[in-house]
Amino acid sequence: MTAATTERKLYARLEEVSVRYGPKVVMQNLSLDVVEGAITCIIGLSGAGKSTILRLLNGLRKPDAGRVLLGDRDISALPERELIGIREKIGFSFQFAALFDSLSLFDNVALPLQERTAMSKAKIRDVVAETLESVGLGNVMDRFPAELSGGMVKRAGFARAVVANPECVLYDEPTTGLDPIITHVLTDLIIRLRARLNGTAVVVSHDLQSIFMMADYVAMLFEGAIIAYGTVDEIKQSLNPIVQQFLQGSEVGPIPI
Ligand SMILES: Nc1ncnc2c1ncn2[C@@H]1O[C@H](COP(=O)(O)OP(=O)(O)OP(=O)(O)O)[C@@H](O)[C@H]1O
Ligand SMILES: [Mg+2]
Repeated sequence: MTAATTERKLYARLEEVSVRYGPKVVMQNLSLDVVEGAITCIIGLSGAGKSTILRLLNGLRKPDAGRVLLGDRDISALPERELIGIREKIGFSFQFAALFDSLSLFDNVALPLQERTAMSKAKIRDVVAETLESVGLGNVMDRFPAELSGGMVKRAGFARAVVANPECVLYDEPTTGLDPIITHVLTDLIIRLRARLNGTAVVVSHDLQSIFMMADYVAMLFEGAIIAYGTVDEIKQSLNPIVQQFLQGSEVGPIPI
């Protein structure tokens, strides 16, 4: 890790983590720091294991070796019952929004509060309305997911991820497949939501413009390891030819195609 993180408090840390799916090794001895109060972006090729990193951070996937630390606590060996408590503190905006088609936008976003809190109906109504307003969906709360554009569905996913005031929000490909203007709006929204929650965010994305706009730290995942880590400027100036090829989107270079 670079000097940049040494004096900063960590929200989470993957320590020498290995993950296999059957015989396929996805990660080997991978370590990654997630700085508290910062936006950490993870970049890497399709299938590199970016979504798996997010699943490790909220205990949806256990490592085959190594530790997953949240603060000082190793969550990698915790029973499911304790992981549920941890997931309440970590919002997840999924790669594919995963809204319930049969529920209105309001009900989709209200669900985490209904399931996990003792909030009154009136309080839930206020919190959900306020959260949907904060993502610019205050006027479409009664619509169903099929009646929304792709960008609106993503924003609804963000609203659901942040509605219970999590300490940390994990975003999996928040802007993939969306036009540049909506991408800008969503990127700005991630920055604003992080500030509003005064928390930590980890964003997996292929979208370099968006990453350069929001990231405090960037980590590049390649062949099972973090091969570069630093601020946006540090990553842009990286001498690693794999990083440079990825940033330039070139087919010429060390990355096997
Ligand atoms: N449940 C699973 N069973 C078997 N293999 C899996 C499973 N989940 C992921 N993998 C494999 O592990 C690797 C990493 O997957 P992951 O979804 O973390 O990658 P990713 O970087 O998020 O990819 P993408 O950019 O396509 O979303 C991939 O090769 C994938 O095929
Ligand atoms: Mg993925």
